[in-house]
Amino acid sequence: MTTVVHVDTPGGQYPIHIGAGRLDLLDASIAADATSIVIVTNPAVGALYAHRARTALARTGRRVITVELPDGEIHKDWQTLNLIFDALLENRCDRRCVLVALGGGVIGDMTGFAAAVYMRGVRFVQVPTTLLAQVDSSVGGKTAVNHPLGKNMIGAFYQPLAVEIDTEALATLPAREISAGLAEVIKYGLILDPEFWSWCEINAARLRALDREALSYAIRRSCELKAQVVGKDERESGLRAILNLGHTFGHAIESGLGYGQWLHGEAVGCGLVQAAELSARVTGLPAADVARVRKLVADIGCPVAAPDLGAERWLALMQVDKKTEDGQIKFVMLPRIGQAVTRAAPEAAVRDTLACTTG
Ligand code: NAD
Ligand code: GLY
Repeated sequence: MTTVVHVDTPGGQYPIHIGAGRLDLLDASIAADATSIVIVTNPAVGALYAHRARTALARTGRRVITVELPDGEIHKDWQTLNLIFDALLENRCDRRCVLVALGGGVIGDMTGFAAAVYMRGVRFVQVPTTLLAQVDSSVGGKTAVNHPLGKNMIGAFYQPLAVEIDTEALATLPAREISAGLAEVIKYGLILDPEFWSWCEINAARLRALDREALSYAIRRSCELKAQVVGKDERESGLRAILNLGHTFGHAIESGLGYGQWLHGEAVGCGLVQAAELSARVTGLPAADVARVRKLVADIGCPVAAPDLGAERWLALMQVDKKTEDGQIKFVMLPRIGQAVTRAAPEAAVRDTLACTTG
């Protein structure tokens, strides 16, 4: 059975199809006037799923080309992005080509960015194969590559034609990647939906065990909540920033340790604990709720203690954040579970938070 969630933004309206076997139906999401189809993937995902994707896409009668990028966050950069442009130009792909991002968030973000700028914009479809990409990165049109000085610093807002979520693809995902994806799932409950948060607390073990019914519900609810937010604020002029709960801390972990040391979702999970501790100091989140956040982050299998990078380095790393304005770091914080605000925090509270969450 396929569930559909609709995304409606000024930059594009499109469906998110969620169901088992969506990979075999990809031809339906390709525009009728497409001249060629370019699957962008990596060797790991390609070996598992490119054949099925190619078979489905071949039914369009269009030329199907496959480009493989090296796997990993460490390759989410300009140099790797250029491999997509090389393939598009070598194959003489024109403005009516359609790119298909087959993989996790790294492939999705890079393919989306390539689509945004190749010939000033061509169409693309997101086919997310990690839990994190299914619940977050494939939805909402944020595309980017990393810069050595900051994560996702070079990119564009660019919406896909469709998001095709094959829930069966999660069966081959390593357990550590499932935990990383669950960090973004529980984030939605924390910022927007206290009932969903409580449901996640009760169902953490089922989710980690890939219980079909629980995972399908978590993916759908996450997509619904994300679609609501990006529908109101596509370009993050306000509300959308709440989706970055835990990310100011998490991005500092990723760039501070070197991309790829911690998974993005692991860094976000730990960042949720740090954001909750900061919220206790700034927006009055009760201590019992901070403890609930710490417990659920641990229950989903993410780290709860952040690396000790030294307070000065932490502060410098957190400055390189897209929410920083006029040198002032802004944090997403929780007055209570299910509600989020974005604002500056006193430096003493940030230092205190770092002292009690690192080590
Ligand atoms: P990833 O893309 O690196 O994928 C994780 C690993 O899983 C990779 O080694 C990949 O090859 C492998 N893999 C993918 N699907 C698989 C499958 N079905 N079976 C087996 N292995 C599989 O990591 P990710 O966690 O998916 O994405 C993280 C990235 O997403 C980060 O770069 C982050 O910045 C970005 N992100 C973007 C947004 C956004 O709104 N655009 C939101 C959140 C995260
Ligand atoms: N993952 C944050 C956002 O899409 O805005």
